[in-house]
Amino acid sequence: MLPKSVKIVEVGPRDGLQNEQGMVPLAAKIALIEQLADAGCTVIETGSFVSPKWVPQMADSTAVFQQIKRQNNVRYTALTPNLRGLEAAIEAQADEVAIFGAASEAFSQKNINCSIAESLERFLPVIELAQKHQLPVRGYVSCVLGCPYEGHIAPEKVAQVSKQLIDMGCYEVSLGDTIGVGTPVKTQQMLNTVLNLIPENKLAVHFHDTYGQALANILIALQQGISVVDSAVSGLGGCPYAKGASGNVATEDLIYMLDGMNIKTGIDLTKLTHAGLNMMQSLGRRSNSKVALALNI
Ligand code: HMG
Ligand code: MG
Repeated sequence: MLPKSVKIVEVGPRDGLQNEQGMVPLAAKIALIEQLADAGCTVIETGSFVSPKWVPQMADSTAVFQQIKRQNNVRYTALTPNLRGLEAAIEAQADEVAIFGAASEAFSQKNINCSIAESLERFLPVIELAQKHQLPVRGYVSCVLGCPYEGHIAPEKVAQVSKQLIDMGCYEVSLGDTIGVGTPVKTQQMLNTVLNLIPENKLAVHFHDTYGQALANILIALQQGISVVDSAVSGLGGCPYAKGASGNVATEDLIYMLDGMNIKTGIDLTKLTHAGLNMMQSLGRRSNSKVALALNI
């Protein structure tokens, strides 16, 4: 059974722009976020309170949060790897925060400079303080279908880390195919294993589209009852600590597929496409969204 509606978590302003080579002007980031909200996006990952030495592209997240015009029905969210990040997110009035772990030891070390076990320990006080401030906490698990350093990742490991994040207080775990290597049957097997421990209404999927498999994998997730999907307008992005990772599945392509399946998202494809094209214009590149190119707006 397919869901009747899908919640899209638009991660372009964070996952997308964190991987840009050059610095994206603050005004362009703000315009993108405001246009995404105008297009009907209700959850927008707006920034990331991480070390500016690790990810310089997100160093202006406080300014982004301060300067966007907010809409009441939209949740503006942020990544917070530690207490310092959370404090900055609270100060910037983020509506929701996310901690990010991995199912691969090597990736955990490269991305957040600690083991999986250490990361979970570090996340505990983050969740505790967020809850004191009534901030919902989302959990990410990276490398759920493969790791750039370790290769194969056992679905059991994905399920175990995801369950730990839920038990610690995350309201939802987003399963990240960080380098976009997953294929549909592998996705189904991984999801089956995770679904043995976590109900589908606490899971989201997050596919990078490196090998062009993201939409096929998302369809599998929808068929398994998952109804929250992360995507990035124009297919922006990639993770700076995952070599070879290209952008997330393009939100335009996802909306086109869901519209065609009569699954509601509340997002206007034309407005969304304009938002993406405006950003691509300021980056000086063509969109990675096939739908944006096909619409030829
Ligand atoms: P560390 O070096 O182990 O930590 O980094 P530290 O506490 O020793 O701090 C190092 C420096 O960073 C210090 O500055 C701190 O003050 C500063 P220095 O003394 O050298 O001048 N610092 C901070 N500055 C600002 N905000 C903070 C903060 N914390 C420390 N919150 C740390 C550990 C986690 C901080 C670092 O590894 C880091 O920032 N990593 C972030 C990596 C990242 O953002 N990766 C991309 C996001 S994850 C992703 O894209 C995957 C996802 O999309 C899902 C998927 O696709 O799979 C979510
Ligand atoms: Mg990602």
